[in-house]
Amino acid sequence: MSQPSAAGSGIFRIGGDLPVHRLGFGAMRITGKGIWGEPANPDAARATLSRLRDVGVDLIDTADSYGPFVSEDLIAEVLHPYTGLVIATKGGLTRHGPDIWRPVGRPEYLRQCVLMSLRRLRVERIDLWQLHRIDPKVDRAEQFEAIAGFVREGLIRHVGLSEVSVADIQAAQNYFPVATVQNRYNLVDRTSEDVLRHCEAHGIGFIPWAPLSAGSLAQSGSLLDRLAQGMGKTPGQIALAWLLQRSPVMLPIPGTGSPSHLDDNVMAADIHLDEGDFRALDEQGKAAWAAAG
Ligand SMILES: NC(=O)c1ccc[n+]([C@@H]2O[C@H](COP(=O)([O-])OP(=O)(O)OC[C@H]3O[C@@H](n4cnc5c(N)ncnc54)[C@H](OP(=O)(O)O)[C@@H]3O)[C@@H](O)[C@H]2O)c1
Repeated sequence: MSQPSAAGSGIFRIGGDLPVHRLGFGAMRITGKGIWGEPANPDAARATLSRLRDVGVDLIDTADSYGPFVSEDLIAEVLHPYTGLVIATKGGLTRHGPDIWRPVGRPEYLRQCVLMSLRRLRVERIDLWQLHRIDPKVDRAEQFEAIAGFVREGLIRHVGLSEVSVADIQAAQNYFPVATVQNRYNLVDRTSEDVLRHCEAHGIGFIPWAPLSAGSLAQSGSLLDRLAQGMGKTPGQIALAWLLQRSPVMLPIPGTGSPSHLDDNVMAADIHLDEGDFRALDEQGKAAWAAAG
């Protein structure tokens, strides 16, 4: 069998000047349970990171809060000096225990996030730094102004936002060009359709998190299941292929701590759904989302 390759997903230029294969990798799952502490299987986590280059994955999404710090530290240990790779990290969420995430958007804290990510990742500039959440307790403009300062200082090259509305993106554009938006989006979570349309219209990369979720569509005997079986693929691979086909600005970052799951996910880059199947999945996904309310 030939080696899986993300090359089939095509190329997107982040911020217009950072080309990456559209199928990336989410590095949240190389940490412990509740995204807290060390991974249960550190050797598998390291092997997964080592394999990224072999399979042509060159966009790696992480955050200071994954672990916290564990994901960034492992990435630096295994992949520094990152030749040919784009490491996208995030800041602005604090951690107080497993599954606990609290935004802090005060400028001095955001600055600390950036400076400490630079140190952990061992770089002088972060290619893509994303505000993990806009802190509702701090004026949005104050957070954007601080980030614009990080760009001016040369600490970060491109800026992304996460879990934002179209209005948030438009407000941020007054301070810096928004290169990417990372919102939850998959076959059965279509809450961010308007944000995706906005990203398409403005050449902004759209990074859908939880890309493998297919909810009720993954049930045995469903269209997704039948399509997958007919093509000799898994429902997860078809869900990823559907995302890649949904938009040229779509940059899915499936996450795993297992090299074999990484290979499975990368194989989605070479799957093409015919128009009828693509549309039928689209409609079923929208219906499942609407039914879930
Ligand atoms: N911006 C945000 O607020 C936000 C929030 C959440 C996540 N994210 C980012 O988005 C990335 C993806 O999100 P996600 O991890 O929540 O969802 P996901 O990628 O859709 O799913 C990950 C889960 O699926 C399993 N998995 C992955 N590949 C598999 C395969 N081939 N076969 C079977 N199971 C497989 C993983 O377990 P195994 O490790 O066992 O494979 C893990 O439990 C994260 O890594 C992170 O970078 C961002």
